[in-house]
Amino acid sequence: MKRRDFINWVGLGGIASSLPVAIAACSSQTTSTSGDWQTVGTSAELDKTGQLLAKNSPAGPVLVIGTSKAANLTAVNPTCTHAGCTVGWKAEAKKFVCPCHGSEYGIDGKVQKGPATEALKTYAAKIESNSVVVKPS
Ligand code: FES
Repeated sequence: MKRRDFINWVGLGGIASSLPVAIAACSSQTTSTSGDWQTVGTSAELDKTGQLLAKNSPAGPVLVIGTSKAANLTAVNPTCTHAGCTVGWKAEAKKFVCPCHGSEYGIDGKVQKGPATEALKTYAAKIESNSVVVKPS
């Protein structure tokens, strides 16, 4: 075998042996994408007041509205899009209200009153084994 042939042969071997690693890297990425529901609290915590604020959840700041018995849960990133204050949920008015400059958002996160102009980010939310889990929607 000539020297050049040997180098080509070793080179191909190197590519072939790194293939399983590349495939494994891709498949682990797929797993984490499909399993990105993050636990933000327990259903008992949510049921106490009908809302659950997790400022430092693995998914980022999350405010979940509802109870474990409700058909649908609402979850938003409560960071006001105007200047970053944390909005609160006003159950009687069914809206998120910012304490800093009075912006108001509907339950869908859309702006109802400025000065904010951009909607709150929303999450899909559900109860899973007594935990409240969310993922970016
Ligand atoms: S920070 Fe919320 S209205 Fe200004």
